[in-house]
Amino acid sequence: MSLTTFSRNRIRKLLTKESSMVLESKIPAYESLEREFQGISEFGLYLHIPFCRQICPYCPYNKEIFQPEIAEKYTRAVKKEIDFYSALCTGKPVTSFYIGGGTPTTMLDSGLGNILEHIYKSFDMQCDIHMESHPNDLTPDNLNAIRSLNVEHLSTGIEALQDKYLRILKRPYDKKGVKAAIERAVNKGFRCFNVDFIFALPGQTYAELEQAGRELAETAVDQVAAYPLFYFPYTQMGDSARKGNYNIPGILRRRRMLRILEGIFYGRDYERTSVWAFTKKGVPKYCSVTVPLYVGLGASGGSYLRNIFYINTFNVAEYIKRLEGGKMPIALSLDLSESTQMTWWLYWRVYETRFRRSDFWQRFGYDFDRVYGKYVKLFSLFGYIKRDDGDEVILSDRGIFWLHALEDLFSLDYISKLWGTSKQEPWPEKVVL
Ligand SMILES: C[S@@+](CC[C@H](N)C(=O)[O-])C[C@H]1O[C@@H](n2cnc3c(N)ncnc32)[C@H](O)[C@@H]1O
Ligand code: SF4
Repeated sequence: MSLTTFSRNRIRKLLTKESSMVLESKIPAYESLEREFQGISEFGLYLHIPFCRQICPYCPYNKEIFQPEIAEKYTRAVKKEIDFYSALCTGKPVTSFYIGGGTPTTMLDSGLGNILEHIYKSFDMQCDIHMESHPNDLTPDNLNAIRSLNVEHLSTGIEALQDKYLRILKRPYDKKGVKAAIERAVNKGFRCFNVDFIFALPGQTYAELEQAGRELAETAVDQVAAYPLFYFPYTQMGDSARKGNYNIPGILRRRRMLRILEGIFYGRDYERTSVWAFTKKGVPKYCSVTVPLYVGLGASGGSYLRNIFYINTFNVAEYIKRLEGGKMPIALSLDLSESTQMTWWLYWRVYETRFRRSDFWQRFGYDFDRVYGKYVKLFSLFGYIKRDDGDEVILSDRGIFWLHALEDLFSLDYISKLWGTSKQEPWPEKVVL
């Protein structure tokens, strides 16, 4: 057993009291889902669109090449899944809605509007829509179509701003084209327009990153989500990395690169709103589902309902087939102990860089400091906490970086196991995390 696996197991045991987490191929009983919903006052909705016009060599997400006739069948299947939930969640408002992928904008002309109409008919929607897009889809006509769907918060994956790195990532556009797309979207009046940007690319120097960061800040986007390149073992670049084909920057180099970006964006009136995101002050942040409990629709959609987490099959054809046969497309589920739920709660709050003790009390009915007080004291000693007013705890930049590096010890491994297996097998027997 490697040192990393050993440390991961020890930390997990310490926090969750569980020696492993096993997702099993069982569909939760309708009555148990009914019970879960009874105890919920609001929930979030995630809709997965598993189609792209190309497959990028670094991307871990569940997707396949877009084909209009499959997208139409997918639309019908998602509407059936919506019908299943609308009966369960009557009277419970949806307070956060995110459309991710893949590339949701592939379905602008083949079913997305139809799915949204059905969602608005079926649920009590009390929130804006956040949606991902691809830069090549941000034509003037498509931007009008996106606005007419009432999408108020839009994100696009520009990934890089130098042709050399766009080529390494095999993105199908150049710097000139992507800057024009950004300009069109910036002027379209979204409440928040976010761009995803990847750094710590193979061979990237500090000077190159600084130049790209400065140019990005000049485009006046509302938010930049800047991720270091992660090498997931089941992707093409992950496979190449395993064979030693890349000189992957170590954690201290990534830290210095993030510092360069912090310097640029803080100097331009952006503030940090999550581990990787810088948002212009006064702008509502672009983010995935924001409420702790959520339902995930579509192939690979995951749902977290207090005592249970489950995930749909990743395979689009199987997802459609199951729903056509009147069955739920759930592939794996996991019953969560209370201490695991608390650990997940803390994980996401650290990701968001801040949390309130009162929210913990409201969610679990326990005094936060009795459960996690000793860790807060320890983080404080390390300089990981910027402010603690007795209720709200705000992490410092140093804390954000190192605590997230610790979280990555878990999330990258879990994603690789869960998503890697689910991509290979539509209905895995079990996945041990
Ligand atoms: C679903 S994609 C975004 C939307 C759209 N499909 C596109 O490519 O523009 C989500 C984002 O995750 C990030 N991402 C994907 N794979 C990554 C990796 N291996 N390392 C770091 N970030 C990654 C990229 O920034 C990407 O834009
Ligand atoms: S990065 Fe975007 S376009 Fe590329 S494969 Fe992933 S989801 Fe699709």
